[in-house]
Amino acid sequence: MCGIVGIIGNEEAAPLIVEALKRLEYRGYDSAGIATLHDGQIDRRRAPGKLRNLGALLGKDPLPGVIGIGHTRWATHGAPTENNAHPHASDSVAVVHNGIIENFRELRDELTAKGHVFATETDTEVTVHLVTENLRRGMDPVAAAQAAVKRFDGAFALVIMFRGDEDLLIGTRRGSPLAVGYGDGEMYFGSDAFALAPFTNRVTYLEEGDLAVLRRSGATIFDVKDNRVERPIVLTQAGAALVDKGNHRHFMAKEIYEQPEVLGHTVHAYVNGVTESVALPKSSIDWSAVTKLTMVACGTSSIATNIAQYWFEQLAQLPSGTDIASEFRYRDTVLIPGGVSLFVSQSGETADTLAALKHARAAGQKIASVVNVAESSMARESDAVYPTHAGPEIGVASTKAFVCQLGVLASLAIAAGRARGVLPRDAEIRLTRRLLEMPRLIGEALKQEEIIASIAQEIAKARDVLFMGRGLSYPIAMEGALKLKEISYIHAEGYAAGELKHGPIALIDENVPVIVIAPHDALFEKTISNMQEVMARGGKVLLISDKRGHELAGDNVWMRIEIPECDPVFAPLVSAVPVQLLAYYTALAKGTDVDQPRNLAKSVTVE
Ligand code: M6R
Repeated sequence: MCGIVGIIGNEEAAPLIVEALKRLEYRGYDSAGIATLHDGQIDRRRAPGKLRNLGALLGKDPLPGVIGIGHTRWATHGAPTENNAHPHASDSVAVVHNGIIENFRELRDELTAKGHVFATETDTEVTVHLVTENLRRGMDPVAAAQAAVKRFDGAFALVIMFRGDEDLLIGTRRGSPLAVGYGDGEMYFGSDAFALAPFTNRVTYLEEGDLAVLRRSGATIFDVKDNRVERPIVLTQAGAALVDKGNHRHFMAKEIYEQPEVLGHTVHAYVNGVTESVALPKSSIDWSAVTKLTMVACGTSSIATNIAQYWFEQLAQLPSGTDIASEFRYRDTVLIPGGVSLFVSQSGETADTLAALKHARAAGQKIASVVNVAESSMARESDAVYPTHAGPEIGVASTKAFVCQLGVLASLAIAAGRARGVLPRDAEIRLTRRLLEMPRLIGEALKQEEIIASIAQEIAKARDVLFMGRGLSYPIAMEGALKLKEISYIHAEGYAAGELKHGPIALIDENVPVIVIAPHDALFEKTISNMQEVMARGGKVLLISDKRGHELAGDNVWMRIEIPECDPVFAPLVSAVPVQLLAYYTALAKGTDVDQPRNLAKSVTVE
């Protein structure tokens, strides 16, 4: 899961490649590297760690050449060392790779038997040796690449540069995205159009199995059967400017504070405040006729689907299920005729979710997606796209995209309820009014920042933390735990409050803070009973509730965070804020890398 770039240009390529890689660091930041050709020879600079380490290396030891390839890595096979960093190279070719070559062991054994010497622990290196072997056997570069690709199992995007030809790059994709950029006498490859935005807005998204041969004069594209094909050139909307942090220390903080604004943009794209009704973008999906809704996603996006399931059941009486994308297609999931599969993703590129989408399509489902990146693979492969308008989300921990996903999913549930004739008009009016109030209420919730920052000092001392909630607050408990884990590295779990007594309550002692999310809703009393069970066993409780909830909950809780009162249906949108801020300030207290936490990547493009 990595970012790849290729440039055939007319000026020094390495600084341009670094610019493009900065825009791909969301795909991984374990190591980075560049290879260029100068005097026809392959030369490389590679550095472990963030891209800035490669920048420093290039400052000391520049890399000349007007053609080059670059890579930012999220390690799959082999530790994130300089030696395992891409580009990988032989004396004949250099390769950058995103994805996994699953049959690399078999290929490595075969090539080793032919005398190839492997220098790294990566799966990628087989691509270098196989293309090299094909060249040695007399194939030209295109034939060598085409023949090699046919031997690979797995998902990959590759860009290959050939010694001695400063006017040739070959790129190919299967499962992982790759775009071709068209400049003025210059050509580009990039994992996405965003990487290419500083150079061109004219791009072709390669299709599954395509192989593109780039020369300064243009691109020749072959399909999976090696037939020459034409692919459309589209004008991308990806902006060339890199997003900055504004006055915030971290992107995550900026993104948390943007939530009232971007949720406002998102909700207004679906809810008409004058007619007090929801209008969906036109598509081939008729929500009145949907037999079953299957929602599939990963991570925080998956938590958004867990919340949405309550909404689709309650507001639309629509049989609904949720699934984690990495599990979905390996079970015998029953996808019934007339069903819609809905995929939720910030990036629209998550490999597991994309694979699940293809699986559902093959099973005859209508495909809908809720995505934040409008030109993403998922958007391009859907029958109906319901965009979130969160703007670029840079922090690895998803915050504003999540809240905007909830805004879209709530709108969809209301629209489905109306279409199915189960949501009366007066209910639609009430719900749309309440939904339109949510940006303001999130603004109110953000005012608790100071108290949350001081509570975080205590949470930072813990080794384990439990979150619990019932109903719509249960997924928020899971989200709180996920946020805390990923950026503060504190072990945390989110439980349904009623489930604690079936095992996890054994963990409770004075060293394990328990964070209870309990807005004053229909399940409040039950959650408070579960909270009492925790306190009776010496557990320290941090209660997140509204004014009424705090009044009713008694005095014995350890600490409190107040959220604004709101319609219980939309409470997850406000409860999300304190758990995000708590994770953020706990991470600050622990001194972790908030925006780029260890071992993670913003977009997970390998299975
Ligand atoms: O781009 P996606 O929404 O498909 O990403 C899914 C997950 O990888 C993502 O939500 C991840 O869990 C976040 N880092 C959580 O904050």
